[in-house]
Amino acid sequence: MQNVAIIGTTGSIGKAFLEYYVSDNTTEKVYSISRSKNNVEDKKIVNLDLNLTNKNDYAKLSSFIPKNSLDKVIIASGILHDDDLQPEKTISSLDLDNFQKIFSVNAFAPALLLKVFFPLIRRNENALIGILSARVGSISDNRIGGWYAYRASKAALNMIIKTAAIELARKDKTAKLIGLHPGTVDTNLSKPFQGGTPKGKIFTPSQSINYLTKVIDSTTPQDTGKIFDWEGKEITA
Ligand SMILES: NC(=O)c1ccc[n+]([C@@H]2O[C@H](COP(=O)([O-])OP(=O)(O)OC[C@H]3O[C@@H](n4cnc5c(N)ncnc54)[C@H](OP(=O)(O)O)[C@@H]3O)[C@@H](O)[C@H]2O)c1
Repeated sequence: MQNVAIIGTTGSIGKAFLEYYVSDNTTEKVYSISRSKNNVEDKKIVNLDLNLTNKNDYAKLSSFIPKNSLDKVIIASGILHDDDLQPEKTISSLDLDNFQKIFSVNAFAPALLLKVFFPLIRRNENALIGILSARVGSISDNRIGGWYAYRASKAALNMIIKTAAIELARKDKTAKLIGLHPGTVDTNLSKPFQGGTPKGKIFTPSQSINYLTKVIDSTTPQDTGKIFDWEGKEITA
C-alpha cells in the first residue's frame, strides 16, 4: 500500500490527482497540502496547510509527515495570473513584483519542497516525485514569445528538476523525479487563454489525470530528471 502527498489540492489539477489517489485501492493515505481547504472528504485524507510564499510553513510539513513514509509526491501548484498580474505580451510590461511572485510559486517553491520531501520518501521501485511543469518552459519549443515570467519560471523549474534528479540518483538508484505537462486543461489558470486551442484539445482535469497517472506508472529510473507531456513524450529543454 502506498502513501501519497499532493501539493496544490485546491487547484483543478491537484484536486483531480487527490480524487484519483483517494479512489485508488493501492493507496492508504493521502496528504492533501494547500493554503486553503478543498471540499474533498475521505478517511484516507490528512489535510495540511502550506502557503508556498511563507518560508516558515515548509518546516512544519516535516514535523507532520514521518521520514521514509511516502511513495509518491505530486506538486500541482502554480501561478500564471491573478487579480493583480497578467502574463506579459511585450517586454514593456515586465514588473519586478510580478516576476518575483511567479518565480516564488513556480520555481522557488518546488525547489524548497524537494528539500523538505527528499527525506520523507521511502526507497522503493514505486516511489516517484512528479512536478507540474509546462510545455512553454521549453526554450527550443518557444515559437511565439510572450509570457516572460511564466515561461522563464518553468524553464528554471525544469533545471531544478534535472539538478535535483542527479543528486537523488546518487543516493537511490530507483529514484524517479520528473516534470509533467498536463496538456491544455480547463482550469482557472488556463481559462482566459483557451481561445487559440480547439475545443476538442482542451482536457477536463480528470482526463488529464488519467493520462498523467499512466505516464507516472510507466516511468523508470532512466527517465529521472526529464519532462514528459500527457502522452508520455519527452519535452526537450
Ligand atoms: N491548466 C493548464 O492548462 C496547464 C497547462 C500547463 C501546465 N499547467 C500547470 O499545472 C499546475 C496546476 O495548474 P491548474 O491549472 O490546476 O491551476 P489552478 O487550478 O489555478 O491551481 C493552482 C494551485 O496552485 C496553488 N497556489 C498558487 N499560489 C500558491 C501559494 N502561494 N501557496 C499555496 N498554493 C498556491 C493554488 O492554491 P489556491 O487555490 O489557494 O490559490 C492552487 O491550488 C501549475 O503548475 C500549472 O502551471 C497547467
